[in-house]
Amino acid sequence: MRLSDDIEKVLISEEQLEQINEELAAQLSKDYADKNPIFVCVLKGAVLFLTDLVRKMDIPVEIEFMDVSSYGDGIKSSGDVKILKDLDVSVAGRDVVFIEDIVDTGLTLAALTELFKTRNAKSIKICTLLDKKENRQVNVKSDYIGTTVPNEFVVGYGLDYAEKYRNLPYIGVLKPEIYQN
Ligand code: IMP
Repeated sequence: MRLSDDIEKVLISEEQLEQINEELAAQLSKDYADKNPIFVCVLKGAVLFLTDLVRKMDIPVEIEFMDVSSYGDGIKSSGDVKILKDLDVSVAGRDVVFIEDIVDTGLTLAALTELFKTRNAKSIKICTLLDKKENRQVNVKSDYIGTTVPNEFVVGYGLDYAEKYRNLPYIGVLKPEIYQN
């Protein structure tokens, strides 16, 4: 099968993603020039974004990974995040930037931000490729946003539906029949 056959429309093309990454990388490079920040990539969706982003930056950046899942009934998140994989280093006194694929309800990043405050990070910022503003349930402010997206389920460039479509090079909307099956 071809993954692209399941895509109804392309929302953000490879060229647009490249442009977004250039702009975010330039801004982050300026803001973190002498700070040696820790970029905390939230698995798995943000991996492709992280790797493209940091290759466009010419300043020291440390990379760490966290894997989290929200507790809940499967339909609605309760907002408590369960840590499946934690960091290997201390963030006390460090400048932290969360690298996320998409902020939807905001519950994941709200919980992670609170957690990292208790770990005494010097500063905590959020860099998200996509912002699905319409669906926000808690007040989370992203400091760096690639672009906003409508309240549709998107896949590709790291984002999945049932662990599929992450390796599409663009962001697209799935055909409705994929959900219905
Ligand atoms: P939040 O806690 O609701 O902000 O959830 C953010 C997480 O939900 C993201 O890291 C994604 O894993 C997932 N998510 C939210 N919207 C989408 C989507 O449209 N496509 C794929 N994953 C999504």
